[in-house]
Amino acid sequence: MNVLNLSEPSHGDIGAERKLLTPCTIVIFGASGDLTARKLIPALYHLFKDKQMPQDFRVVGFARREKTDDSWRKELRADLDEFSRTKPVDDKIWADFAGKIHYCQGDLTDTAAYHKLENLLTSFGHASLRENLLFYLAISPSQFGTVVEQVHHTGLLNKEGAGWQRIVVEKPFGHDLASAQALNRELTRFAHEQQVFRIDHYLGKETVQNILMFRFSNSIFEQLWNRNSVDHVQITVSEKIGVGARGGYYEEAGALRDMVQNHILQVLSLIAMEPPVSLEAEAVRDEKVKLLKSIRELTPEDVARQVVRGQYFAGQVGGEARPGYRQEPKVKPDSNVETFVALKLFIDNWRWSGVPFYLRTGKNLPLSASEVRIQFRPTPNVLFAAKCGKSLGANALTLRLQPNEGISLRFNGKVPGSTISARPVRMHFSYDSEFGAYTPEAYERLLLEAIVGDATLFIRRDEVETAWQIADSIRNGWDGKPLTNREFYSAGTWGPIAADDLLAQAGHEWHEPAVIR
Ligand SMILES: NC(=O)c1ccc[n+]([C@@H]2O[C@H](COP(=O)([O-])OP(=O)(O)OC[C@H]3O[C@@H](n4cnc5c(N)ncnc54)[C@H](OP(=O)(O)O)[C@@H]3O)[C@@H](O)[C@H]2O)c1
Repeated sequence: MNVLNLSEPSHGDIGAERKLLTPCTIVIFGASGDLTARKLIPALYHLFKDKQMPQDFRVVGFARREKTDDSWRKELRADLDEFSRTKPVDDKIWADFAGKIHYCQGDLTDTAAYHKLENLLTSFGHASLRENLLFYLAISPSQFGTVVEQVHHTGLLNKEGAGWQRIVVEKPFGHDLASAQALNRELTRFAHEQQVFRIDHYLGKETVQNILMFRFSNSIFEQLWNRNSVDHVQITVSEKIGVGARGGYYEEAGALRDMVQNHILQVLSLIAMEPPVSLEAEAVRDEKVKLLKSIRELTPEDVARQVVRGQYFAGQVGGEARPGYRQEPKVKPDSNVETFVALKLFIDNWRWSGVPFYLRTGKNLPLSASEVRIQFRPTPNVLFAAKCGKSLGANALTLRLQPNEGISLRFNGKVPGSTISARPVRMHFSYDSEFGAYTPEAYERLLLEAIVGDATLFIRRDEVETAWQIADSIRNGWDGKPLTNREFYSAGTWGPIAADDLLAQAGHEWHEPAVIR
């Protein structure tokens, strides 16, 4: 990854890697919102606590609600007490950090408010704090265009000029290809694509970043990573929670937009991409896009055959009663929104030709887990297979992204005794036991990368758009087709039966995420 040579640097240190940081101001639009309280301020506090922030920096919050610097700091401290990953919050460190936090009250549409913001930045008395600006848009995407235009007209955001300016945006990046393209056009009207940092918090997870390290630094696996050895791949992102209070959002999104278009396709592209020529942001992102582009297009007929959607009805999850999706607050009583998706994709390139990739995600499933399972081809059906039959399971490698982050390898061992019988056994690697509990929040890593200016872990415009093409082709197959009885599943189960049938057609079956103790 990049190490930028900037003036007046200090060092941010993640693992063995040291990064050069310049003084800057982080301007959060949407400062009174949920994301700021739960994720952004705790992440910045921990970066500061761990001495990862630039030597000099400021955090400026922008929102409509009336607050003073002091009243906002008090609110943030209360939020931090609740959401911090380390407790208790250190009073001394907080006091030092809070001294760098400021609030700018204003409406996003009001030009005068941006001049007030500019005056505040200038009052910090250091050119870098006025010119090196990270604009974090913790607001609705419909407001992105307004902010970008206003900060540009106020002279705070420039394509060329002094310092650096970057814009960080959160998903959703549109709700289909057309809206994503429109959003991208708005974002890049006054900024280069290289200044736009699109966050997918999945990419901030250590275990997701480890996929590339694992694949390209271990020759024993690297040589097996292709159609000659791999039988199929399963990616599961299951959630034990239902939609709860997020019914209004979910009615517009559904599992396909909420999970598949972004997180799951991101994981798939890291699992299946070709080795990049370097770890430079563009080299890695080029390969991810190439992979997404080699996913075989789905016609409406393919969608009917290869994609299963589902919606939960009332049931029990872990002994707890859950309402059906249609009974959740802010959900239409006849909603057809999917809370579960399972699909089979093929990647039409040299490496993966003919290998099925099964992806699934859903809400109100029996447990919360994200993992990738690479199932290898079976050995020839001679010698042991003839005697051991079904107990001679296929070798499998499981990358556990969360929880119990780690890697497991499944292979067959002989059961001791005079008879020839086999039993699958596992080798486990667990992050916690190997490296200790180093568990920074994804936002810490991502905010630091954005401050440094390394875009490797952020989604490029063509990645977002290609992923939307895939999601749109699935939606086209569903268009105008209400859910049928076969597409409902009881809360607390692994989705509709059709999801099992999807794999059974090829003699495969879903594997429950491993629970490692
Ligand atoms: N919350 C999460 O964990 C999460 C996760 C992933 C993505 N996101 C995305 O991040 C964005 C923010 O989410 P959120 O949950 O933080 O939303 P939120 O709680 O509704 O906060 C929205 C913020 O925008 C400000 N705002 C709205 N209209 C404004 C205006 N005209 N002028 C100035 N400020 C305005 C609000 O401040 P005032 O009301 O004080 O004006 C508030 O601070 C959304 O796009 C969301 O989809 C959030």
